[in-house]
Amino acid sequence: MTVGCIIPAAGRGERMGRGQPKALRTLAGASLLEHAVRAMAASRQVVHIVVAAPPDQVASTGSLMGSLRIDARVDVVAGGETRTDSVRLGMAAMPETCTTILVHDAARPLVPIDVVDRVAAAVEDGAPAVVPVVPISDTVKQVDEAGQVVRTVDRSELRAAQTPQGFSADVLRNALAGEDLDATDDAGLVERAGYPVLVVPGDQEAMKVTRPLDLLVAEAIVRRRSGRVH
Ligand code: CTP
Ligand code: MG
Repeated sequence: MTVGCIIPAAGRGERMGRGQPKALRTLAGASLLEHAVRAMAASRQVVHIVVAAPPDQVASTGSLMGSLRIDARVDVVAGGETRTDSVRLGMAAMPETCTTILVHDAARPLVPIDVVDRVAAAVEDGAPAVVPVVPISDTVKQVDEAGQVVRTVDRSELRAAQTPQGFSADVLRNALAGEDLDATDDAGLVERAGYPVLVVPGDQEAMKVTRPLDLLVAEAIVRRRSGRVH
């Protein structure tokens, strides 16, 4: 079983505010993308990584990746208008020899190796699609356009989906072949294509950096890991 990884990194980072595309923002001295690539390459199973970069930053991202000194091979392609487009473009550049594909957001720079290995192992054990999830801590309300609560959703049945999400390569290719599809995650596409999707435990440290406050939390995690704060 050969594992390849697609890292969509072509988003603009609008919720983060002005500045560089989010994947190229700095966290503790390196870009979110560099952290994410290192985190995925830390899993010895990942042999090939395809990064979908902002279209005007393919060359600079390529040199950045060249300086990483990791064992996995890293290719950089131009990403697309939507996250799904970026994943599709990444998949087009993935060698056919990779039979298990992990798709991981550049915006989740600190995913622990255990999560990566757990997802890859579940695909290797035969699951067509695997999603790491964590429980939701807030109470969730469904609301209408007038600002009224319609109902309180039963939280015990809900989970927040993280990445990397893992797929058998054929299943992901089929799901991505659909027309006009967009989804905030890849398992959503695979679900719609009719495949069962298995969940495995995620980890709070696989948090997504979306808004400025998330960057502060990520910095705190890096400091704790480097032993400066306990
Ligand atoms: N992504 C991508 N191509 C796009 C849009 C998003 O590769 N056209 C990537 C982002 O770079 C990120 C991941 O998908 O690594 C998750 O998306 P998100 O957190 O929404 O990032 P952005 O789209 O950059 O942020 P925002 O939605 O706030 O603009
Ligand atoms: Mg987005």
